[in-house]
Parts: sequence; C-alpha cells; structure tokens
Amino acid sequence: MQITRGTLAGMLAALAGLALAACSPAATTTQTATTPSHVQEAAFGQTADGQAVRQFTLTNAHGIEVKLMTYGAAITSIKTPDKTGAMGQIVLGFDTLDPYLKGVPYFGAIVGRYGNRIARGHFTLDGQTYTLAINNAPNALHGGLRGFDKRVWDARSFEDDKGPGVEFTYVSADGEEGYPGQLTAHVTYQLGADDTLSISYEATTTKDTPVNLTNHAYFNLSGDVKKDILGETLQLNADKFTPVDHGLIPTGALQAVANTPFDFRTPTAIGTRINAANQQLHFAGGYDHNWVLNQTAPGQMTDAATLTDPDSGRTLSIRTTEPGIQFYSGNFLDGTLSSRGVAFTHRIALCLETQHFPDSPNHPSFPSTILHPGETMHSQTVLTFGVAH
Ligand code: BGC
Repeated sequence: MQITRGTLAGMLAALAGLALAACSPAATTTQTATTPSHVQEAAFGQTADGQAVRQFTLTNAHGIEVKLMTYGAAITSIKTPDKTGAMGQIVLGFDTLDPYLKGVPYFGAIVGRYGNRIARGHFTLDGQTYTLAINNAPNALHGGLRGFDKRVWDARSFEDDKGPGVEFTYVSADGEEGYPGQLTAHVTYQLGADDTLSISYEATTTKDTPVNLTNHAYFNLSGDVKKDILGETLQLNADKFTPVDHGLIPTGALQAVANTPFDFRTPTAIGTRINAANQQLHFAGGYDHNWVLNQTAPGQMTDAATLTDPDSGRTLSIRTTEPGIQFYSGNFLDGTLSSRGVAFTHRIALCLETQHFPDSPNHPSFPSTILHPGETMHSQTVLTFGVAH
C-alpha cells in the first residue's frame, strides 16, 4: 500500500486504497469517486534470485493508462485513444515478467548508467582510464552487461495535484559495470490530466562519473503490431545530427541535415527515405542516430519530436531538457520476440531516446555528461499523447 502525499484528495485516495486492499491482497488502488485519475499497484513476479517485482498502473480522467514495473523502472504498456476513441497499445511490451527476464532489447526500460555507446568501452576521466563491459562488440552499449534496465528498482507511488506517479530509485555501486562512484538515480514518471507523461531524472554520485539516462520505449502509434512504422510521420526539431562510423560511434562532427535523409524538420513519413543510398543509413541498417536538438539554451525544455500515425490519428509529442535525441527505427527487431502470437518484426516499432550524445566521454566538444560529487543531475522529458483528426 502506498501512501499518497499532499492534498485532502490524496488522503481520501489513500483511504479508498486501504478499503480495496482489504478485498484484494494482490492489488491496491488510490482511486476515489472524485479523483478519476489513480495509481494501482500489483505483484508482477520475481527475478531468478528471488527479488519481488511490482507493477504500477497510472490512469487519467481520459482513460489513458500507463503501466510501469520495478524491473528496469520500465514502461510495460501505454494505452491511448485513436481518432474514434478506441484505446490501443502504443508501445512494445509484455503482460508478464518472464519475457523481460529472458532478455529483451531494453523494451520500455530506463537505460544507464550510460545510455547509448561508449567506443571500445574506454574513457579517461581525471587521468584514469576506465574499462567497461563490451556488450555490443567492440563497444559498450546502454550501461553494460547488466545495466539499469536489468536491475530491480525501489518504488514509491504517489498522487498530487498534477496526477498519479511513481518515483523509482536505484543505487548503482561504485565500480558496477566498470563505472566509477556510487550513483544514486531517481526516475519519476507522472501521468498528467493534460495527457502528458513526464519522466524526470535525478542523479548524485560519490566520484566523478559519466551519466546518461533515458527511456527506451518502442512506439508504434497504430496500436497494431502487425503494421510497421514506415507510414508514421516524424518531425524532429534538429538542424544537425551526429554522423557515425560503421560501429555507430560518432565521428565527432555535427552535420547539417539539409538535403539528406536525416532532414525531419518538416513532418516526413519514416519510410520515405529509409532505404536511400546513403552511407549513414547503410551503417545502421536504417535510422539509428543522434539528432542535435535546436535548444534555446542548455538544459532548456525544448520541442524535440512529433510522431503521427495518419491512420489512427494518434500523435506523440516529445519535449526535453536534453541536448539530443536518438531516433532508432527498430532495425534490429527480427521477429524473435512475440506477444500474444504476434511477432515483433523488422521496424515494427521505433525509439525516440532523449539523451546526451553517444560516446560523449570521448568527445570533449560534446555537451559534458560528467557528474561530480556534490552536484545533482536533473533532466526531464515530457511525452504528450494526442489525436489529429
Ligand atoms: C540503439 C540501437 C540498439 C537498440 C537496442 C538503441 O538505442 O541505438 O543500436 O540496437 O538500442 O539494443
């Protein structure tokens, strides 16, 4: 049972939760008749080493529903209405813990300590060279062999005047996956009455360390995982991107998107140029690149991306304080994983990962990802779910 904080509505909600918990040991709720938004909590299995995993369901007054679990602080489900009002599942995920434990490519998870690649798993900081696990040969990807996506986070649900939410906390040990310093990370998801899902990140450390946290949800706004994302249109607020080598490590250049298949400054169907003869697309087997957002100032909340599915009408807008966004067009999905008999095939979903640039610890010209003791890293990304008629 979670204690809500703040308001009278919150206290009423907590009492309602107690009443429901008495009838149902597996799930609690903080719903009240006067507060249509709510957060529910339920058991969601356990890891091989016996750690209990919990799932939270956030709902708002429009029926938008977001499910989160403590394994990887991951989003397991988001349901939003289409232009006819029909609810649909818009992220890849599973109803049970088991497939996540067997291994998924970061479905909905928080990736860290360093989201994206670090070249050859090496970086030098304060005169010392650190060696990370190589899990994407020859590079380190998304925090290593057992990154933040494969850890059970602590969680505390709440509801305040902005809506229901869950704060997840993970303490990463000094030296874990090769990273220096004990890092305490907090990630808070909150579903707003305005159909926003805010994801706020905070971190502190005991030693200088690189940090790059993001959410790795795979979106398919059609609500139909038999239909790929090539017909969905994307707009990115970026004049430049960071071109990569054949191992998807940035060269260090910031390249103008003008006159390239990377120009998404006006809404463009993802499939229009994805198979163009272009070395950057060839290296990645499609889009798997970091765009440099047109920020007004570092750390300033900026429009990053808008994704639209013309058929269902569903839209997703993303704003962030981060300087970059990785648009990954699901090129490595190959049908191996499936849910309810439907295989997750090539380009069936895409990721829009707000972040600092890949391999920043080895590129002094990129915005710094180094967190020092005594500082707190703050970052926020806001997803807005909408419908275009
Ligand atoms: C990376 C891809 C990778 C995928 C899943 C994305 O963030 O950019 O290269 O394959 O995550 O592993």
